[in-house]
Amino acid sequence: MRPISRRSFVQSAAALAPLPTLGLASPARAQADSLSALAGSKGLLFGCAANDDDLRDEAWAEIIRAQCSILVSENAMKWRRMHPEPGTFDFTDADAFVAFAEANGIAARGHTLIWHQSVLDWYHEIEDESAARDAFFNYISTVAGRFAGRLHSWDVVNEATQPSDGRRDGLRETVFMKLFGDDYIKLAFEAAAEADPNAMLTYNDYWLPYDWSDEHKRAKAIPRLLDKALSRGAPIHAFGLQGHLWAGRNDFNARGMRALLSEVADLGLKIMITEMDVRDQKLPAPERVRDAYVADAYKRFLDVALEQPATIAILTWGLSDRHSWLASRFAREDGLPVRVLPYDAELQPKPLVVGAITDALAAAAPR
Ligand code: XIL
Repeated sequence: MRPISRRSFVQSAAALAPLPTLGLASPARAQADSLSALAGSKGLLFGCAANDDDLRDEAWAEIIRAQCSILVSENAMKWRRMHPEPGTFDFTDADAFVAFAEANGIAARGHTLIWHQSVLDWYHEIEDESAARDAFFNYISTVAGRFAGRLHSWDVVNEATQPSDGRRDGLRETVFMKLFGDDYIKLAFEAAAEADPNAMLTYNDYWLPYDWSDEHKRAKAIPRLLDKALSRGAPIHAFGLQGHLWAGRNDFNARGMRALLSEVADLGLKIMITEMDVRDQKLPAPERVRDAYVADAYKRFLDVALEQPATIAILTWGLSDRHSWLASRFAREDGLPVRVLPYDAELQPKPLVVGAITDALAAAAPR
């Protein structure tokens, strides 16, 4: 993810957008109807990311059962957890995650097969190239094979673009790129399709809807990589747009987001919003002010996402601040707990934030 420097923090804080004024009409409706029921009435799935150990928090699990029709594994289905050493696979946490979803009739998403950040040193240290290639295929077929037929979708390749790496195609330099060139994307999808012919195979990326130079480049790189892999025969079915947003920005690029989603849809792909959350790191302290900004960021992003008919699912990255990765990763300088997700750390729904998501879903055309 994009590191945030002290300098850009100060610059953006100075440029905080005007405080949004949000109506309070929605919360009553949000209490009465679950987000998944409302999404379902439009032919959409609504859900969130969860860690297997968080799911043992029964109060939180109850909210998930009530609100979610889809769940994605936050960490349990990453390489570093499932394949800690050569020759060793550990599915304890992944099995528990998928079993929870199945027991509660919730669709499960696997996240993620090929992601540079999740690959461990032992893989980088394999000297023999053909052994490294074999390990790549063995990992995908073992993992995707284990859950075959049980997952709604798999994030097969995650975050393959990185314009700052300097390649003309905007792709990231990774260990996989070294081994296979850009063909690794197609090869990963083919291996996943062979192991699990039923899952919706997804390319997931964190393009951000802001007027930033790298994001303009990434917006070109993503459709190009998808088009290239598809034309080489890769079985890619969907594009996942993460949606790790910043609150209070005044450079939201709705036009760019609309264009990116329609280019991807024109390739014949479905679209999922896969990891939505809104950083409140730079906002003033009062909770109500923060919630208004955060709600506004969700609403504007979702309005554009849901305007696109190819969008089929909306997922937040966690559902309550109690379990958000942002609490440690993007903590506030004043030490206040972050308020970044629809439910607070006490597991209470935030009227403004739940209301904003409710409004966006309510306004969406049925699929
Ligand atoms: C994050 C998890 O939320 C953290 O708990 C973990 O320490 C690091 O990974 N993009 C992704 C996710 O695709 O896998 C990342 O999840 C967040 C950014």
